[in-house]
Amino acid sequence: MVGPLLRATAPAAFGDWLTDRLARRPTGAQARAVYRDPLYHYPNFRVILAELALTSGDYLLEVGCGGGAFLKEALRSGCRARAVDHSPEMVRLAREENREAVARGRLEVLEASADRLPFPDAIFTCAAMTGVLGFLPNPVAALAEIRRVLRPNARLVILGSDPENRGTPAAPEPMASRLRFYDSERLEGLAREAGFDNARVVRRDLEAFAREAGVPEEHLPLFAGPGARFLIAHKG
Ligand SMILES: C[S@@+](CC[C@H](N)C(=O)[O-])C[C@H]1O[C@@H](n2cnc3c(N)ncnc32)[C@H](O)[C@@H]1O
Repeated sequence: MVGPLLRATAPAAFGDWLTDRLARRPTGAQARAVYRDPLYHYPNFRVILAELALTSGDYLLEVGCGGGAFLKEALRSGCRARAVDHSPEMVRLAREENREAVARGRLEVLEASADRLPFPDAIFTCAAMTGVLGFLPNPVAALAEIRRVLRPNARLVILGSDPENRGTPAAPEPMASRLRFYDSERLEGLAREAGFDNARVVRRDLEAFAREAGVPEEHLPLFAGPGARFLIAHKG
C-alpha cells in the first residue's frame, strides 16, 4: 500500500514534479504569476526580436509560448502570429494576456506539442522558440516539424540551452539534471539534422538588454559573461 506513496514522494519523482510545475509544463498560481510577466526572460526576447526584425507582413510561429509575454512584444510589429504550448494553463494565460490580438484574429494560441504542430505545411514567414529547447526529448523532431510549417526563405531564431548555465540561477536543480544542454557545434548540428540550411550560432551579451528591460541592478551580473547562444537558421 505504501509503495505508490513512496514512489510519488521519492526525490526523483519530486524533482520531476517540480520541474514540470515550474517550467517544463507550468501549472499553478506561482507559474501563472511568473509567466504572465517573466522579467528575467525579456533580455532573451529582445535578442530574438532584434534578429527576427519583424514587420507587419510577417506571420510568426512561437513554440512553447508560456504566458504569451514574447507574443505581446512581437505583435507590436503589426505581424500576425500563431503559437503553441503543451500546458493548457499556459495556453489560457497566453490567450488572456493577448486577448485583443486574439479577438481581432491576429493571434491564435493552441495546445500542442512541439513535435506535432497542428498547422499545414509552409505557412509561416518566421519562427521563434525561447526557454524550451533544453526540455525537448527529441529536439531534431521538433526542429524538423518547425521547418515543415515554414515557407521557403523563412527564418528561425531559437534561444539555446547553454552548458554553462547548468546549476546556475538560469538552470538550477532539480531542473538542471532534467535539461539537455548543447554547445555551439551541437546546436548547429541539430538544425542541420532537421534540414535547415545556413544554421549558425551567435552569442549575445545579455547585460545591456537586461538593464533595458528593468532587471534590478544587483541581478545584472547574472546576465554578463561569454554571451548566451542563439541559433539562427533559414529554410532554403
Ligand atoms: C521555461 S517555459 C518558457 C516560456 C516562454 N517561452 C518564456 O520564455 O517565458 C517553457 C515552456 O515551454 C513549454 N513546453 C515545453 N516542452 C514543450 C513541448 N514539447 N511542446 C510544447 N510546449 C512545450 C512549457 O509548457 C512552458 O510553457
